Amino acid sequence: MRALDFRLTGIGPGKSLAEQLRTRRLKQSMTIGALTKRTGLSPTTIRSVELGGGSVASILKILNALAPKAKRRAPERAYWGQGDKDDRDSRFTPPDFMESIYASFGKIDLDPCAHPSSPVAASKKYILANGDDGLRDAWSGKFVYVNPPFSDQLNWLRRAHEQWRLGNVATIACLVPARTDSTWFHETLRADADIYFLQGRLRFLDLRGNTQPTPFSLMVVIFGATKEQKEKFAAAVPGFWMDRA
Ligand SMILES: C[S@@+](CC[C@H](N)C(=O)[O-])C[C@H]1O[C@@H](n2cnc3c(N)ncnc32)[C@H](O)[C@@H]1O
Repeated sequence: MRALDFRLTGIGPGKSLAEQLRTRRLKQSMTIGALTKRTGLSPTTIRSVELGGGSVASILKILNALAPKAKRRAPERAYWGQGDKDDRDSRFTPPDFMESIYASFGKIDLDPCAHPSSPVAASKKYILANGDDGLRDAWSGKFVYVNPPFSDQLNWLRRAHEQWRLGNVATIACLVPARTDSTWFHETLRADADIYFLQGRLRFLDLRGNTQPTPFSLMVVIFGATKEQKEKFAAAVPGFWMDRA
């Protein structure tokens, strides 16, 4: 299971499937004898499964009895790693999250890394396929929303920081993986940005219209947010604002 990144949801806590099954049985106050009757397995087999042994067939019988709704957890990493670079970068912000962005910060003047299939509504969009380059072309407006390509996060954050410092844009919100280890995060972002850590993960859309939660935690890095915008955002999206340096 580990080699195939095969994990199940809907069973309950535990570091391994064996531990999950044992915890689930105990939580249901079911004795090994009772489970024997439900599954037709011998007590020895059940004990063996709970110690990490047993065959796939016996595990399935126990799963059916204890957690019939258990199912395979989406192999997220494999999914995010699929396709060529362009395909992997084409992950679109979900519409319900965008509603919270519009409601908190107002309409978006520019999406500098837009995509024709993305649900993000912006007055102006820079689209790679049209020859635009959001890392080079001018940014302007009151509010810019950035969900940058995952392959080039830091450059986009640096560009957003620069455009805000130059006064080209009043407020810039960047939705990015919660990576907090760089010196730049500690020395620059921590001082200049408001950072909101999301509780839970968003389900991004891909080019085929499928959705999957990100395999990493997310944060929103905002340059130039007002107190009112921050309050509205915190009321709409589960998470918390990091204290300013
Ligand atoms: C993670 S997607 C986000 C799309 C959209 N902003 C959204 O939030 O739904 C990042 C997009 O940036 C585009 N992109 C990559 N490099 C770019 C560049 N230099 N200029 C403009 N867009 C770029 C990719 O084509 C990709 O569609």
